[in-house]
Amino acid sequence: MDLHILAHRLRVTSISKSGLQNYTHPLIKLIFLRNRTRCKFFSLTETPENYTVVLDEEGFKELHPSEHLQVECSTWLPLNVVSNGNASSSSQAVGVTKIAKSVIAPLAEQHVSVFMLSTYQTDFILVREKDLSVVIHTLAEEFSIFREEDGESVPVHSQDACNGLERNGKEAHHSTVHPVMIPQNQFCVMSLDPDTLPGIATTLIDVLFYSNSCKDDAPAADDLECIKFFSFSLIDGYVSLVMDTEAQRQFPADLLFTSSSGELWRMVRIGGQPLGFDECGIVAQISQPLADSDISAYYISTFSFDHALVPEEDIVSVTDMLQDQRKDAGC
Ligand code: ARG
Repeated sequence: MDLHILAHRLRVTSISKSGLQNYTHPLIKLIFLRNRTRCKFFSLTETPENYTVVLDEEGFKELHPSEHLQVECSTWLPLNVVSNGNASSSSQAVGVTKIAKSVIAPLAEQHVSVFMLSTYQTDFILVREKDLSVVIHTLAEEFSIFREEDGESVPVHSQDACNGLERNGKEAHHSTVHPVMIPQNQFCVMSLDPDTLPGIATTLIDVLFYSNSCKDDAPAADDLECIKFFSFSLIDGYVSLVMDTEAQRQFPADLLFTSSSGELWRMVRIGGQPLGFDECGIVAQISQPLADSDISAYYISTFSFDHALVPEEDIVSVTDMLQDQRKDAGC
């Protein structure tokens, strides 16, 4: 299997709900006017707390500093696993489940904090630039590693990366088990031909920028509620959308497509307090048991919380599994 370190240098930011109107102009430019920015990696996710925007340095230039914009101070690099067809695994599972044991668990063991962004097309594992040598060293056993530079894939040798490398300490793993919430909505993970973006422009603008004004927007207080969650990404020319079935009904049915099985997904939101960016092992804690049970999962980290999407039919067993995990941890 190959692991690619993509050329994008990313910033993780959030825009407050009340500050969104100050950023509609740059966001519209980043979403619809691709030729007017040099941004190649853009992702926007609305959650009840805020809007998470992950974007490359070119895109970041479009977001003017203000009290409404929070910026995580590190530069993050996206990693991407490319299976070259001869994978021996018999697993049919997709998403973070596929990389739980080969990427997520080893990085967590080395105390590397990740930020996950699953899309319709693939799963990006964001790591801090300063952790790159540890990342390469840790994953070199399992993967052929390439660094994308000027559109070319250049092989990276673990020896190069180890020079002067101090491996992170391997003290006992004391991971916190975070509370989870399981909202009622059903989600779909969709895509669309980027050339047809103008065809959904009015709906997308409505959903992203005006959805709060037309509904009583009670925050999801407990498990019986629905959660506000909508994610749009435009990465290297590929569009990915994650929305609940209610939002989906507003879009013209002929432009969006999903996988042939057209499955619906349920969400597990991870975190009671905002998770921050330094803790590691959160994604591992969720993806490991999913991998053990071969349950597919998309995984989207946002500025405050993490979100796993699992097939609707598996939500009961996933809930039981997470409950057992909390019992074992003495919660
Ligand atoms: N850093 C966490 C991990 O390594 C995942 C991200 C959690 N933080 C967040 N703001 N979503 O598992």
